[in-house]
Amino acid sequence: MMNKNDKPGASPVPDNQAARLREIEPFYVMEILERAFALEHAGRSVIHLEVGESDFPTPAPVVEAGMQALREGKTRYVQALGIDALRERIAARYPSACRPPPGRVAVTPGSSGAFQLIFGSLINAKDEVLLTDPGYPCNANFVRLYEGVPKLVACDAAAGYQFTAQAIETAWTERTKAVLIGTPSNPTGTAVPPDEMTRIVETVDRLGGTLIVDEIYHGLTYGSDVRTALYDTDRVFIVNSFSKYFGMTGWRVGWLVMPSAFIDGITKLAQNLFISTNTPAQYAALRAFEEDVIAELERRRDVFRQRRDFLLPALRELGFKVPVTPEGAFYVYADCSAFTDDSYAFAVDVLESTGVAITPGKDFGRYRQNEHVRFSYANTQDNLERGVERLAQYLRS
Ligand SMILES: Cc1ncc(COP(=O)(O)O)c(C=O)c1O
Repeated sequence: MMNKNDKPGASPVPDNQAARLREIEPFYVMEILERAFALEHAGRSVIHLEVGESDFPTPAPVVEAGMQALREGKTRYVQALGIDALRERIAARYPSACRPPPGRVAVTPGSSGAFQLIFGSLINAKDEVLLTDPGYPCNANFVRLYEGVPKLVACDAAAGYQFTAQAIETAWTERTKAVLIGTPSNPTGTAVPPDEMTRIVETVDRLGGTLIVDEIYHGLTYGSDVRTALYDTDRVFIVNSFSKYFGMTGWRVGWLVMPSAFIDGITKLAQNLFISTNTPAQYAALRAFEEDVIAELERRRDVFRQRRDFLLPALRELGFKVPVTPEGAFYVYADCSAFTDDSYAFAVDVLESTGVAITPGKDFGRYRQNEHVRFSYANTQDNLERGVERLAQYLRS
């Protein structure tokens, strides 16, 4: 994440810079964030609806467990795939019908670390990976980093902005190696229905590819629980994290569940890439599974649901189109074509005029990116109400 004082793009590109770096896209929201910081510095009030992390602090018992670990000197390297106790607790979190053995669980430096292990152990140069457009932007960059080819596939509102088995089959080529699905998704909050996931698993299997499912927003769903893809298959990579539901973004602990055939390869890669994941943070994460912490996290989930139930109709009322109701995460991906055909310029103008910071669509792909912005409701109800009020005034003027 950017420091308030950092200036992106300030230095010239050096001659010896690797070609891949030119193809790695910046996070445009960082430009919005930087401008928001500058406005705040100048005394303006900014309402941050651009940020992709919970506004709740890490639960106190988790913080205490981290400090306890530090006091007890748990500050050394541990096993490359994580401490046994944490791998066991993570495995036990899955329903008994599809519970993986702890040996198939790897603890990673955030889910971002998990993606590096997965792509590093799966992708050869020029292998294609199918990604939803819109989708979480870092995925394409990870694929590129490992010399693969990210193939963005437009997923429209009719499909809930998600892959269908049919869309995967249509996009498949002989170079396709893997498909990545985020469910519920960032930026849309929409999820793949269980029957569609079953069809996707069958299709990817039949085509000889590998399925990767990012379940980082599991736990943050507001209707029925979204089912893990482990129900359908154990030949899948599942990615998850303590960042979102558990409110631990800065601790940098995530996990993956891998097919057993990959355990040795992933172990080698983890040893080399990370040695191990932050040790005190793993002990803190262990505490996050206790009943009192889960009760607090469930209370927070209810608060997120209430915020969604406020923000979604409020945005629709203002004239944003949101054709698919987000089921999870803390985002509303809104069509702003009633107001602009350049969502980046719109986001900048909204920020300058109203002090409301939102994320432009171009951070999430190319498909109708100019017609979309993402609102995050990881902010207090008061701030959401003030944000909507400011937007209403802006759009009226
Ligand atoms: C869909 C998705 N996947 C992965 C990540 C990365 O999360 P972390 O590395 O903190 O676990 C994010 C963060 O915003 C996300 O939205």
